[in-house]
Amino acid sequence: MPTTPAINVSRLTKRYGQVLAVDDISFQVQAGELVGFLGPNGAGKSTTMRILTTFLPASSGYAWVAGFDVMYQSMEVRERIGYLPESVPLYPEMRVSEYLGYRARLKGVPRAGRVARLDDLMALCRIKEVRTRLLGTLSKGYRQRVGLADAMLADPPVLILDEPTTGLDPIQIGQTLETIRGLAGRHTVLLSTHILPEVERVCERVVIINKGRIRFDDTLRSIAGREPVLQVEVRGPGEQVGAFLRDQPEVAAITANPAGEGLTAFEVRTRDRRDLREALAARLASKGWGVRRLDLKRHSLEEVYTDVVLRQEEAAAREPEAISVA
Ligand SMILES: Nc1ncnc2c1ncn2[C@@H]1O[C@H](COP(=O)(O)OP(=O)(O)OP(=O)(O)O)[C@@H](O)[C@H]1O
Ligand SMILES: [Mg+2]
Repeated sequence: MPTTPAINVSRLTKRYGQVLAVDDISFQVQAGELVGFLGPNGAGKSTTMRILTTFLPASSGYAWVAGFDVMYQSMEVRERIGYLPESVPLYPEMRVSEYLGYRARLKGVPRAGRVARLDDLMALCRIKEVRTRLLGTLSKGYRQRVGLADAMLADPPVLILDEPTTGLDPIQIGQTLETIRGLAGRHTVLLSTHILPEVERVCERVVIINKGRIRFDDTLRSIAGREPVLQVEVRGPGEQVGAFLRDQPEVAAITANPAGEGLTAFEVRTRDRRDLREALAARLASKGWGVRRLDLKRHSLEEVYTDVVLRQEEAAAREPEAISVA
């Protein structure tokens, strides 16, 4: 039986006046998944998250969290999500434990277990040492940690974390990521960040948004499992070299581009993940062709991200030119 996705976004659009912040996006997060939501500044991540958490109405489209419509069933949605906003709104004159106690009451955490729950969470988010401090006097990293504790208070099935590690020191980043990773499985987590290694460390899947549109949605396992590409620059007769490369039993496909001065740049895709560099270098040398460059390009999240974001920037940069030509 198909299960309901924990987060289901369908053709969601948000305009702020003239600004099209989110442009007809659709994606799903299955229950128990931990998904990284990536994109450059201004891409639309926080806007999407605010809509999912019912703090902002969409201009059009739909979103469901835990099976409830964010627009029409906002109370049901709020009961099932924990949200760490981009900037944590805290009451400066309240003490940490007082604030979390107040939030726990607000979120309906049962009275009986409330004290124990607060204690556990303050330990988990490493804020016990500041429990009596006024929120207004906390450093940024501690505010962030209180925000995370708040998001987790009612043990919600879905957590929406907008840049949860921003402002944390390196050790806290590591510990917070561990905490977040520990939530996966039992909880569904959508988290935004700009730090790609963080995503590689904790997330199973990434969704990349750029200029309000989803540009990529796949698992990290599938990125890492893509066949590596060999980048080869050879001095020699381009067509012959190309035919020779294509004939190699391990080679699945090649592309060729003249690189000037008698050089041709090839991208060689192999049939499996073996590193063919040395074998190819030897075979090309035995034909008397010089190898000027031979790199193995494995697919990393950074490569995918750069490709997704820059390719679009370049396309956008070309656009005005096209208009002026027309
Ligand atoms: N309240 C608002 N009024 C007008 N425009 C807004 C408002 N909030 C966001 N925007 C615009 O919407 C777009 C998306 O912003 P959003 O905050 O969702 O991006 P983001 O992906 O979270 O970026 P960052 O990585 O910088 O946090 C941006 O162009 C932003 O300037
Ligand atoms: Mg943001």
